Amino acid sequence: MLLPIYLYGHPVLRKIAEPLEATDNNEETQKLIADMWETMYNSDGVGLAAPQIGKSIQLVVIDGSPMAERFPECADAKMCLINPEITEADDAELVAFEEGCLSVPGLSETVKRPDKIHMTWLDENFQPHEADFSGFLARIIQHECDHLIGKVYTDRISPIRKQFIKSKLTNIAKGKVACDYRTKAAVNRR
Ligand code: NI
Repeated sequence: MLLPIYLYGHPVLRKIAEPLEATDNNEETQKLIADMWETMYNSDGVGLAAPQIGKSIQLVVIDGSPMAERFPECADAKMCLINPEITEADDAELVAFEEGCLSVPGLSETVKRPDKIHMTWLDENFQPHEADFSGFLARIIQHECDHLIGKVYTDRISPIRKQFIKSKLTNIAKGKVACDYRTKAAVNRR
């Protein structure tokens, strides 16, 4: 089932997401994960975090494979992340690159992030994993994990750029934005 994507300005995108418990390993969660995959692919995204579909829980789906030609680390990078935790990030080596977000349609801005991270997480079967990630895949992961702590990538751009796109962000928050997937804005238009 396709779910509406909540737009920049909606309060759910600013909440700290709750971790899933062992008791959440059930059909309802599996259905939600399936719906998130469908919603992400339908909107041509490479990642989607549960707050973006209005659920303040620590659940993310990522499929970086459309980026694999340019970023080989993204090949076969299809992952469901439950309770992901970035336990190390190399702040000494920040890389600047363009990012976009399904909750911020029509915009892309340069964001500086660590190029290398270490992460622990549970997969869709609630099995624990840990691994190192780098390059664009590390960027996707950090972008999605930001959604779980109430952050959007536009929080991490330069003050000058932020000022420059301020009116566009205001319009998105009001739902005044063209978008070819279903969205839900903070403010209902009459
Ligand atoms: Ni995003």
